[in-house]
Amino acid sequence: MRTDKFQPRYQIHEYPGRKPWYVVRKYIERYSRPGETVLEPFCGSGVVPCEALIARRKAIAVDVDPLAIFISKMTCISPIDLTKLEQAFAEVERVAKETIYALYLLEEKCNACDGQLIISSAARMPQAQKVKVKAFCSECDKIHELVYELQGWEKNIDEPIPYWYPEDAELPEGIRGNIRYLHELYTNRNLGALSILWHSINLVGDEIHRKLLRLCFSATLSKASSINVPKISGKGWTPADYNAYNIPDNFIEFNAWDGFSNKFRSCLEAKAQTNQLIGDFYASARILNASAENLTFIPDNSVDYVLTDPPYADVVRYYERSFVRNVWLGFEMGASQTEYPAMMQKVLREVNRVLRPGKHLSVLLKGTSQEFRDEFVGLAENAGLTHESTDQEHLGYGNLQDRPADHVLNFMSSV
Ligand SMILES: C[S@@+](CC[C@H](N)C(=O)[O-])C[C@H]1O[C@@H](n2cnc3c(N)ncnc32)[C@H](O)[C@@H]1O
Ligand SMILES: [Zn+2]
Repeated sequence: MRTDKFQPRYQIHEYPGRKPWYVVRKYIERYSRPGETVLEPFCGSGVVPCEALIARRKAIAVDVDPLAIFISKMTCISPIDLTKLEQAFAEVERVAKETIYALYLLEEKCNACDGQLIISSAARMPQAQKVKVKAFCSECDKIHELVYELQGWEKNIDEPIPYWYPEDAELPEGIRGNIRYLHELYTNRNLGALSILWHSINLVGDEIHRKLLRLCFSATLSKASSINVPKISGKGWTPADYNAYNIPDNFIEFNAWDGFSNKFRSCLEAKAQTNQLIGDFYASARILNASAENLTFIPDNSVDYVLTDPPYADVVRYYERSFVRNVWLGFEMGASQTEYPAMMQKVLREVNRVLRPGKHLSVLLKGTSQEFRDEFVGLAENAGLTHESTDQEHLGYGNLQDRPADHVLNFMSSV
């Protein structure tokens, strides 16, 4: 098991189906040389372009999801002036932190120093009709654990939301769960906090620092929502349901400022790393929001290697899963109109067109059936590619012992 499997550059923002960087890097190094061009037509959160740049390959990355493209660009972009980035954060902190903390104030005072207590988390316990609150003292940092009656707990946060938030956004039907509107994902307190935070980030003058702070904001959205429950083990928290937005009775509410500021620390570490590993070479990346069915902006025979982690039919609902963040970030989402497998057939034709003759395509397939892989090989061969080999690889991050291996299909373009 690798101890370095969680690298800072991938620790800012989650994205469904992110693949291990060390497998991606191994394939890039096996099938391409420095200075050559690597394409990922379904780039998701950008592991392939980022590893390609680190290995000094030029990168082209495409995804239909604007959120995916935003995460990919922010992950790869470098060099970043970290001092100026910290100043931009400090500016947001100056404008927003106190106003946000005021939303989390308890009436009780610290029993050690009489300082003010700020809620860090509030866990609803519907059976006991209580709320278990963790708070810290703003003066002496002492941690306090307090229990309140559930009834009446919400009453002090019935204030109007101070700034813009997505008000009338209906969630896509597939992910609605027990709520209908996006804003119902948050308590009033957290919605207020998020609106202040978003407003303050948008006051940052420098575009790239503003965007990196927006990335940290987007990364805070799920922890700041009411979909999380305590883990059965009693340690930590987890979304109650990965496939639908359900607000459970026993949800935990987290302090949105603290979530954001933790994400900012991760962002600083990530950018320190990409500054060092990618530096000016970011200028060799093209990361584009488009459907891979139509790669007209890439000339024929101009790509040296295609490494991709494609969607598998409609198993993971990327459109639905990115919806909330795209709405907050103000991105227009154009989902692919073509159904699988016709979509994949078109993409594979484009891949064969843009690849130089006799060059390779590798396809990462995690947890697929033999039948699906056979169909995929059929589609690729129809598109003019030749199946050369199938490797077994572990494409997950969990404990690998006793897990069946995943697969990587390797093809050669027509000569
Ligand atoms: C398995 S995910 C990729 C995850 C990625 N490897 C990562 O590390 O984050 C597949 C991606 O394909 C994208 N996608 C689906 N249909 C597409 C299309 N027609 N053109 C481009 N991208 C598409 C989805 O938005 C999703 O981000
Ligand atoms: Zn105190």
